[in-house]
Amino acid sequence: MGAKATGEACAVCGGRTWVLERRGDVAMARVCACSESCSVCDGRGHVLVEREAVFSQKMGPRLYEVMEPCICTRRRRRVALFNDVGLPGVVSHASFDNYRAFNEAQDRGRGVAMHFAHQYVKGGTDAKGGPAKGFILSGPVGTGKTHLMAATLAHLVLEVGIRARYVEISLLYATIRRGFQEGKSGGEIIGPLSDVEVLAIDELGKGRGSPFEMETLDELIARRYNAGRTTLFATNYSLEPERKALRTPSAPAGYRTTEDARNTAREAELLRERVGERIYSRLCEMCTFVELPRDTPDRRRTRQEMDAPMHHAPGGLRSAGR
Ligand SMILES: Nc1ncnc2c1ncn2[C@@H]1O[C@H](COP(=O)(O)OP(=O)(O)O)[C@@H](O)[C@H]1O
Ligand SMILES: [Mg+2]
Ligand SMILES: [Zn+2]
Ligand SMILES: [Zn+2]
Repeated sequence: MGAKATGEACAVCGGRTWVLERRGDVAMARVCACSESCSVCDGRGHVLVEREAVFSQKMGPRLYEVMEPCICTRRRRRVALFNDVGLPGVVSHASFDNYRAFNEAQDRGRGVAMHFAHQYVKGGTDAKGGPAKGFILSGPVGTGKTHLMAATLAHLVLEVGIRARYVEISLLYATIRRGFQEGKSGGEIIGPLSDVEVLAIDELGKGRGSPFEMETLDELIARRYNAGRTTLFATNYSLEPERKALRTPSAPAGYRTTEDARNTAREAELLRERVGERIYSRLCEMCTFVELPRDTPDRRRTRQEMDAPMHHAPGGLRSAGR
């Protein structure tokens, strides 16, 4: 703090001017203390800038002054925008820099997400004027899918000033169901999610697959697709059709818990089967696919071992899983 005078980056925010922190279940942003008082506008929040324009041919170009929001106002707006995204608190620390790739697929995942975030321009069109392609990350739990989504959304909102939302699919279904009981229509709840510039849908394919859930998902994705809006996805379900043929018979009963067995069976399932052909083919058009192999280590279980040098973790990566 107070480091600006010497030109050093602030130790708290690293010069970004904002910090992310976990407040309860949600990730929240705030303006860093180093940037709270503004020397540009002396706290007024706006600045006068000179513009030149030709109002009439006779008079020629004239200078005039306009009021513009100061950089500090824009910073506060972006922080407020971030606090509307709805990112979970557990990934409040997530950035591209602290994402670690343990295989090529994770490296590619980070590359795809970073590229998307850094080339995205407001309005969301690609070089040819079509909708900007999003991405879908598929992989086992604890491999950083939500982490990469969070890093992407933080960049878009705080560095580019984009409006974005994050939803975990089963929470969305629950919210809509609750809304129904309060007399709201599904469309009323889906509306804002259909319109937001960038939407991240986490845990795609999760749920009971009931007609209500399928219709909700179909409507949301169809609306975004038709509006040419960019959507990001993460899923535990596999994208590769080949996986089905490779599926191995499950371990003998009694060897694993039913919960384990159920999870394995679920993971082996294909996303295409979970969401149906119609949604799947839209995803193919809307997204770049990234599939993390099933043996990608679960970071939540192996964090300790992976942070330690390999030779300090005898017995392999999974030996001391919590
Ligand atoms: N490759 C990784 N590099 C750094 N942190 C990771 C990585 N994978 C997971 N994590 C961390 O582990 C926790 C769980 O990751 P998360 O992104 O929720 O996994 P997933 O969504 O794939 O189940 C988070 O705190 C996340 O920051
Ligand atoms: Mg996740
Ligand atoms: Zn700072
Ligand atoms: Zn200012």
